[in-house]
Amino acid sequence: MSHDAAPNTPARRAPTDLHPVPARVREGSASSIQTLDDWRRVWMAAKTDPDAFWLRETQARLRWRTTPTQGLHGSFHDIADSQVAWFADGTLNITESCLDQHLETRGDKVAILWEGDEPGQTRTFTYRELHAEVCRAASALRALGVQKGERVIVYMGMVPEAAVAMLACARIGAVHSVVFGGFSAEALRDRVRDCGAEVVITQDEGLRGGRSIPLKATCDAALEGEHGVRHVLVYRRTGGAVAWQHTRDVWWHDALAGASADLPAVETAAEDPLFVLYTSGSTGRPKGLVHTCAGYLTWASYTHEVVFDLREDDVYACMADVGWITGHSYIVYGPLANGATSLMFESTPLYPDAGRYWDTVARHGVTIFYTAPTAIRALAAQGDHHVTRYDLSSLRVLGTVGEPINPEAWQWYYDVVGQGRCNIVDTWWQTETGGICITPIAPATPTKGGSATLPNPAIVPVLLDDDAHEIVGPGEGRLCLAQPWPGMARTVWGDHERYVSTYFSTFPGTYFTGDGCRRDSDGYHWITGRVDDVINVAGHRMGTAEFEAVLVSVDAIAEAGVVGFPHPIKGQGVYAYVVLQPGQQPDDEALLTLANATCRAQIGAHARIDLLQLVPGLPKTRSGKVMRRILRKVAEGEPDKLGDVSTLADPSVVAAIVAGAKV
Ligand code: WT7
Repeated sequence: MSHDAAPNTPARRAPTDLHPVPARVREGSASSIQTLDDWRRVWMAAKTDPDAFWLRETQARLRWRTTPTQGLHGSFHDIADSQVAWFADGTLNITESCLDQHLETRGDKVAILWEGDEPGQTRTFTYRELHAEVCRAASALRALGVQKGERVIVYMGMVPEAAVAMLACARIGAVHSVVFGGFSAEALRDRVRDCGAEVVITQDEGLRGGRSIPLKATCDAALEGEHGVRHVLVYRRTGGAVAWQHTRDVWWHDALAGASADLPAVETAAEDPLFVLYTSGSTGRPKGLVHTCAGYLTWASYTHEVVFDLREDDVYACMADVGWITGHSYIVYGPLANGATSLMFESTPLYPDAGRYWDTVARHGVTIFYTAPTAIRALAAQGDHHVTRYDLSSLRVLGTVGEPINPEAWQWYYDVVGQGRCNIVDTWWQTETGGICITPIAPATPTKGGSATLPNPAIVPVLLDDDAHEIVGPGEGRLCLAQPWPGMARTVWGDHERYVSTYFSTFPGTYFTGDGCRRDSDGYHWITGRVDDVINVAGHRMGTAEFEAVLVSVDAIAEAGVVGFPHPIKGQGVYAYVVLQPGQQPDDEALLTLANATCRAQIGAHARIDLLQLVPGLPKTRSGKVMRRILRKVAEGEPDKLGDVSTLADPSVVAAIVAGAKV
């Protein structure tokens, strides 16, 4: 990684040392949290009296029809019998908070600033224009028969219409489920069926890095066989040829033409579902996390404003995809609730070259920039000149999310991109948490490279050891959250029991995140990564069980064990140990190609196995349980740290695994 010393950075400070907040970040802040003392006071207020704190916040942020008088209802102790609820006696339509409430004060302010795949190709929607377009799309959905509470799948690329589609669903009280445009037909079909969608919104083709993505064709393939989808609404992005089913398919531009640009919003209860978003876990199929209207939006709005210290004239850019929770909370819902200008980016960090992000920042005068460690590492590896040839003086706050950031990459981001003048907010959170939980607060928190630092108000992190004892003070354990917060997912779609068993059964009475965490003597949190069978590849969460299911569906394969291993750019790579069926003799290269074609078909192009090793057997206990610890150690290049293998049914497989290791 190249590394030029930046002017304001003392030479001998290690990345993990404390970095004070640069003066420029603090100047002009009007935030409720501008110092660590503010943070302490506000955090304590939210902990002591959460009802008063969040009722005040939600009333200041959201436009309510019936103002709520109730704060939190329920607790983690009775979560099996009743869902947590916030603001339960209030009613609203969240699009009035994201759109209508800004029309008088910010009608002509740009709400969505779109940068297309080609540099400089832009479109803008002011709040007034966005409001009108959302109303038209909502009218179109209604004309297609979509009722309040029904599910609509959004399977699109990064076009403004994806945000319009989400908001249009919310406008009529329908529940959206955005499926990332990289998912395969099979993955899309699973989600369509699981949530019982009535309508799918897609586009002819996506466009990314100069390459087209056949979204409509994939959607057509997904809708072969049984499902309840009545209509497919198709936005035309490229004009590429698509197959057409005349009774089912409707063009977006036809459906919106002449539709009402001022559709009254449908009133919903605070706790009505706003969206379902699927995510992978350590077992079984991906589960649909359910986020509800008011608590989620309050949390997205609060965290977006406070963490980034949002100001009225900011140009805010989050480079995530709307297919993931980051895109939901920090491209669409948080920024729009806050009346911000939110940049939406269709392309990739490497197209047409490794300067694309910085070219975009410079041309649009971006002040807050939010991306993922995998992108930072990939760009750092390309050399500083791709960054330094652009004027990045507009930047004030840099964000990172999705996986632990290594201190070297953090320092590069700080020095080369931020030029020592920006604060970095390393934001830890999850699909389940709805918004940022552990993070620096831009004007207030001195940072240490690699640490997510301190909890947001409402977040009470506890570290538990294997015996569920709380670790007080410095130490390392499993990260749990002890109190409900407004943005938490309320349930798993159609399976509350799974929600309870996944998150609340490991340590009863607290929410278990699945992550490990170390707390240092300053009370700063350092996320160490997943402690369950989930791997995080380039910020994409994947279950090892999902890969294993794909592998054993290949004829030649009898058994498979999949683990993560350290990868210099992607954070983690995917390492597969494979046992062949008797009589099969493909070599591992041929098998890897076949396995990856199957992964692509069953999950999507982002699900790729990096290393595949043929083994005579998996290390199993006498009761037949795979000892994943051994697989992990070998993949991490530490075969000398296997620990006790005496309980294995056949210890000889270990020697073969170590001898044939790919790392
Ligand atoms: C998992 C959640 C949150 C939106 C993107 C990913 C890891 C996330 C950080 C961070 C260390 C992080 C955790 C978490 N993670 N942010 N700043 N530092 N790890 O959402 O797909 O739900 O994944 O991503 O392991 O559990 P997700």
